[in-house]
Amino acid sequence: MKVFVAGATGAIGRQLVPRLVAAGHQVHGMTRSEDKQGLLRELGAIPVVADALDPDQVAEAVANARPDVIVHQLTALTGVERYSARAAAPTNRLRIEGTDHLLSAGHAVGVRRFVAQGIATFGLYARSGGPVKTEEDPVDPAPAKDMRDGLAAIRHLEAAVLGADWTEGIVLRYGVFYGPGTSLALGSSQFEMVRKRKFPLVGDGGGVWSFIHIADAAEATVAAIEHGSRGVYNVVDDDPAPVAEWLPALAQELGAKKPMRMPRFVARLFAGEAGVMMMTEMRGASNAKAKRELRWHPAHPTWREGLAAA
Ligand SMILES: NC(=O)c1ccc[n+]([C@@H]2O[C@H](COP(=O)([O-])OP(=O)(O)OC[C@H]3O[C@@H](n4cnc5c(N)ncnc54)[C@H](OP(=O)(O)O)[C@@H]3O)[C@@H](O)[C@H]2O)c1
Repeated sequence: MKVFVAGATGAIGRQLVPRLVAAGHQVHGMTRSEDKQGLLRELGAIPVVADALDPDQVAEAVANARPDVIVHQLTALTGVERYSARAAAPTNRLRIEGTDHLLSAGHAVGVRRFVAQGIATFGLYARSGGPVKTEEDPVDPAPAKDMRDGLAAIRHLEAAVLGADWTEGIVLRYGVFYGPGTSLALGSSQFEMVRKRKFPLVGDGGGVWSFIHIADAAEATVAAIEHGSRGVYNVVDDDPAPVAEWLPALAQELGAKKPMRMPRFVARLFAGEAGVMMMTEMRGASNAKAKRELRWHPAHPTWREGLAAA
C-alpha cells in the first residue's frame, strides 16, 4: 500500500517508517523541515515537506502522494518536561486543525484507512470505578482544569476520525511511551529527575499508569494500518501499575535512593492539579481488544523488564 505518515520524523514515526518499508509498503513521510528530508530517505520514505497547519500544503502533499492510508502522528511535545495547559497548546492545534486538514485531504483522494494517535492515559478515562479501563469505559466527564483543553482536543480528534464514514477511521490510544527517542529513555531528563530524587511519590501513589515501548507502539500501528477496523484501540503493555509500584522500581533500577514522599497539597504547588491527578487518580488501560482484533502482542509485555534500560 501507499502510506502517508504525518509526523514521520517524531519518536514513533522513526520506528514506524522502517517497519512499513520492511513490510513492503511505499511510505511518504511528512516533515516541516527541508533539513529532515535526508533522515526520511535514510528511514526508507519519500520525503514530503509541508506544514500540517496549512490546509493547502496538506491537500497538495496528500494529492501528490495519492495514498491508500493516512497515519496521523503529529504532536509538538519535544522538550515538554512537565504537563501544563500552555505546553499542550501547540499539540492541541495539531489534534484539532491538523486532524481536520488531513481528513479533508484524505477525503479528496479517497483514502481507505485513516489511523490517528490518541491517548489511553494522561486523564482520558474517568477517575471512578476499576483501575484498568477498556475502550468501552467512559472518558473523564470532569478533567483536571489544566487538562481540559488537551482532552477536548483529543475528543475532537476521536470524533472527527471515527465520524468519517467514507473511510476506516482508527484511533490508537497509546500508553505512556518509553524507549529510544522518547522522554523516558537512557539519559532523558525524566530519568535524571528520578535519579536525583526530584520525582516524588505523591500521596498514596495510587495513579495507575499504562506504559508502551515505542517499538511495540509502532508494531501495533503497522497492524492497524494493514487490517484495523473502524474504532478505538488501547495500545498499552500487559502490566498497568500504580505509581507507588513503578516509581520505586525504576529508582532502584537506576541506582537511585527511594523516591521522596510528598503530600498532595504540596505537590499541587509544583506539579499542578494535572500532575497530582496523574500521580494519585489516573486509570490504566487494557490491551485485550488490540491483541484480539489487531492480532498484535507486545514484545515488551511489562515495563518491569526494560523501562530503566530503555
Ligand atoms: N503517549 C505518549 O506517551 C506520548 C505521545 C506523544 C509524544 N510523547 C513524547 O513526546 C516527546 C516528543 O515526541 P515526538 O518526537 O513524537 O514529537 P515531536 O518531535 O514534537 O514531533 C512529532 C512529529 O510531528 C511533526 N510535526 C509537528 N508539528 C508539525 C507541523 N506543524 N507540520 C508538520 N509536521 C509537524 C514533527 O515533524 P517535523 O518536526 O519534522 O516537522 C514530528 O515528525 C517524546 O519524548 C515522546 O515520548 C509521548
